[in-house]
Amino acid sequence: SILIVDFGSQVTQLIARRIREAGVYSEIAPFNSAEEAFNRLQPKGIIFSGGPASVTEAESPRAPQVMFDSGLPLLAICYGQQTLHQQLGGKVVTSDQKEFGRAFIEIVSPSALFDGLWHIGEKHQVWMSHGDRVESLAPGFEIVARSEGAPFAIATNEEAKRYSLMFHPEVVHTPDGGKLLSNFVRHVCGCAGDWTMASFRDAKIADIREQVGSGRVICGLSGGVDSAVAAVLIHEAIGEQLTCVFVDHGLMRAGEAEQVVSLFRNSYNIPLVHVDASRDFLAGLDGVSDPEKKRKFIGAEFINVFEAEAKKIGGADFLAQGTLYPDVIESVSFTGGPSVTIKSHHNVGGLPERMNMKLVEPLRELFKDEVRELGRELGLPDAFVGRHPFPGPGLAIRIPGEVTKAKCDILRKADTIYLEEIRNAGLYDAIWQAFAVLLPVRTVGVMGDFRTYDYVCALRAVTSVDGMTADIYPFDAAFLSRVATRIVNEVQGINRVVYDYTSKPPGTIEWE
Ligand code: XMP
Repeated sequence: SILIVDFGSQVTQLIARRIREAGVYSEIAPFNSAEEAFNRLQPKGIIFSGGPASVTEAESPRAPQVMFDSGLPLLAICYGQQTLHQQLGGKVVTSDQKEFGRAFIEIVSPSALFDGLWHIGEKHQVWMSHGDRVESLAPGFEIVARSEGAPFAIATNEEAKRYSLMFHPEVVHTPDGGKLLSNFVRHVCGCAGDWTMASFRDAKIADIREQVGSGRVICGLSGGVDSAVAAVLIHEAIGEQLTCVFVDHGLMRAGEAEQVVSLFRNSYNIPLVHVDASRDFLAGLDGVSDPEKKRKFIGAEFINVFEAEAKKIGGADFLAQGTLYPDVIESVSFTGGPSVTIKSHHNVGGLPERMNMKLVEPLRELFKDEVRELGRELGLPDAFVGRHPFPGPGLAIRIPGEVTKAKCDILRKADTIYLEEIRNAGLYDAIWQAFAVLLPVRTVGVMGDFRTYDYVCALRAVTSVDGMTADIYPFDAAFLSRVATRIVNEVQGINRVVYDYTSKPPGTIEWE
């Protein structure tokens, strides 16, 4: 296995993911508890992640000394690279020449990392994101690749099997990054590469059994793929000890509740409690327009419902959720340390501080497409596994400003038309996620010689691999005008339609 030491980068989990893709098991440990993880795991190699701190500051994170003393192969990325050089006797300075985004590096010397991949003289695209730079390398290191802004783009000590990268090999914008990481874990560290999603399933089943023991688990189903996969996995692990609760908060898309209930009751025979809590949710959202307040309220209200349901079955010890990695990283720092909160995904940052049940979150380290693969591994139907993601707080975060039942009804109609047209055009599977947003803005229109004064509906459609970054879907004009015409004609309350042209970053996928 491989140990990943986390210095708080937003993309640390992508390193783990690339290593899974290379067929190797890895674990992530925050830098301040990495030594314990190292002793337990006995890894074959170590990776240092990036991070937001600056090694030029006194209090910034450092790698435990044992990582160097062990003599194991080491690959250090970005911040990890800077702390490696500083800890081994090199020098890092703050630079005014900050580099963010696409850059090209030139290979100047061979390296075990490049096996079968890169050759001297070639130029390759990488993704940089750094302010500081290494000014002098630690003894024993030599430059094997450089770029204009980064003379030490890759510096290595081939004999000691230590590799330092100034860029991020784990993101998709470094096209060969996955292969570099694969070379490290398989060729340099000698890991076998026989780890699969089936191994993940079996390992998780064992983990769940160990964590839960003879306890009772309540699993909240949201209608999305994640919670469904989590529920089926946990059901395989503990069978009857699991009760699934589907909470209809009144913020679902049209037809959603029926589909989920039927999948579980009919196809899987997993007992399911269906709670209609829409009145309580909508009443609680009355007058709330701040996005974080909405999210926190919905998170807390979910827990109230789960706790009430738990009581009915004589108490539950655990609450299971389909929390994914992007939910975790954007809500709280994975290390409890230095990464920044973007929004409180309801099943992470939205949970109340005091909760009677402990959490079971078997998908916490996975990305969406990996969850889909796991879902297929568990035999979930393709049509269900391929569904677009839908956020736990539902339509509440697609109605900026105050949420009312009337607005939800309007939005449901527009959303249904939009998705119907996407399906008819054969585009559903090419798009990561598409949905309508109801804006709290009314504009003037004219219909059949009358003045209208109604809401604006925004359409969103993005492509993405993991939800961490996204690009807009480039519909053709005829498609968009067909959808716009249908929505304005068929949905009372909307008289104008706009298309959201923002990628992520700088936008997020959802509007709140
Ligand atoms: P953002 O808006 O942060 O969303 O770019 C990334 C992905 O996560 C989904 N999302 C959520 N999923 N609970 C969830 O289960 C949440 O609170 C939540 N907020 C956003 C979003 O739909 C997109 O797929």
